[in-house]
Amino acid sequence: MKLTDVRYRCELSTLLNDMGLVGHAAEVGVASGAFSKTLLDTWKGELLYLVDLWEPRTCVNDGCNCDAEGQAKMYEECMDAIGPHKNRVKVLKGWSHEMTARVPDDSLECIYIDATHLFPWVMLDLHVWYPKLRFGGIFAGHDYVDPVQPGLEVKPAVDLFADHLGASLHIISENDQPNPSWAFIKESHCDLRPFGMPRPEIRD
Ligand SMILES: C[S@@+](CC[C@H](N)C(=O)[O-])C[C@H]1O[C@@H](n2cnc3c(N)ncnc32)[C@H](O)[C@@H]1O
Repeated sequence: MKLTDVRYRCELSTLLNDMGLVGHAAEVGVASGAFSKTLLDTWKGELLYLVDLWEPRTCVNDGCNCDAEGQAKMYEECMDAIGPHKNRVKVLKGWSHEMTARVPDDSLECIYIDATHLFPWVMLDLHVWYPKLRFGGIFAGHDYVDPVQPGLEVKPAVDLFADHLGASLHIISENDQPNPSWAFIKESHCDLRPFGMPRPEIRD
């Protein structure tokens, strides 16, 4: 399988196996671990970092925001979901941009971004996680849709980032279901300076 053959995000694990990308990977924004389980059930990789705050946030609404009790429940559900694979998982509980300090540069073979969907936050995740990916790895994420809904601003951020890199974006259409993903193969470094991205203020 090639990246351009992938039509459903659940096929990413098969792609990674076929490409021999079976080292370390990360899912950034995990919630109850539904997609983590899907990946781990098929992917033959060594280690998947699960990155999530699992705490209420005042600054965002990504459809998974809820009170502390709800977040604790989601965390428990996630631990149950990934239970059979727990020896291949490392949980990084905290702000996604801060958790990058726990992951070596150029060490990941796939990164799937699905945390806060507001433009500056997506841009921040793209910037801080991209250096963690090795050349030839898959950079991907969820909710690549036109920003018609408030708070859903993944697409403009990804478009700008990919355009800056000259990357060939592949859209994982889910057969035109509402939540496509985006993906490309890392072929260049990113010089972050032209973006001049300010770090979003964390108000929580
Ligand atoms: C849309 S849900 C993830 C869904 C999951 N990827 C799936 O497909 O099953 C987004 C998750 O990202 C987490 N999140 C959002 N912004 C974050 C941030 N800046 N740092 C860490 N986690 C964050 C939220 O706690 C929430 O659980």
